[in-house]
Amino acid sequence: MTQPLIIAFDGPAASGKGTLASVIAADYGLPFLDTGLLYRAAGHLAHVLNIDPAQAATRITPERLNDEALRGREAGERASQVAAIPAVRAALKQFQIDFAHQPAGAVLDGRDIGTVIAPDATVKLFVTATPEIRAGRRWKQLVKLNPALTFDEVLNDIRIRDARDSGRADAPLEKAEDALLLDTSDLGIEAAIAAARSLVKDRCGDI
Ligand code: CDP
Repeated sequence: MTQPLIIAFDGPAASGKGTLASVIAADYGLPFLDTGLLYRAAGHLAHVLNIDPAQAATRITPERLNDEALRGREAGERASQVAAIPAVRAALKQFQIDFAHQPAGAVLDGRDIGTVIAPDATVKLFVTATPEIRAGRRWKQLVKLNPALTFDEVLNDIRIRDARDSGRADAPLEKAEDALLLDTSDLGIEAAIAAARSLVKDRCGDI
């Protein structure tokens, strides 16, 4: 029996890790989990149901993860706020560990996959880019939902979120020591995908 392939993508907001992770998951035929969606759902549910965020985290269902509202700017901000609460992280932890360690293997993207959820991952990528580049990418997505939104507002959000995600005590955003760094600042989407494929292939071999 070969070991399950666990591929971990971590990095700050709008670094491109989600896109890269889903492409690599498709390449290797592995199940994929966007763990940010869990924190977005916890923050959103706590808000709409007016309940404690840790309790909200236990009420996430697959159906609730499809809610369009989770893609918006408010959901990202709320996610980062509830993600700093240890009881929220604890409520979501085992599901992520089990997903990562299923026999088929898995690809996950988030902030603490390589450090907390799957320190034993086969390959870990830490995907980053400058705040300005990330804000530009995120603004292009969000302006479709909210045409009044400015680049500067998004850049400000990104800076606040980076500081909160990196500064929290519980599972802060940080590169695992053995993670491979992929800076996508100067890479278009195709070049970033090619770079990620090459890094993963070096560790995991051909598909
Ligand atoms: O897409 P984007 O990078 O903006 O955000 P996301 O991946 O959907 O994550 C939203 C927020 O959830 C982040 O700012 C983190 O605070 C939190 N998060 C986390 O703490 N741990 C994870 N594994 C994933 C997300």
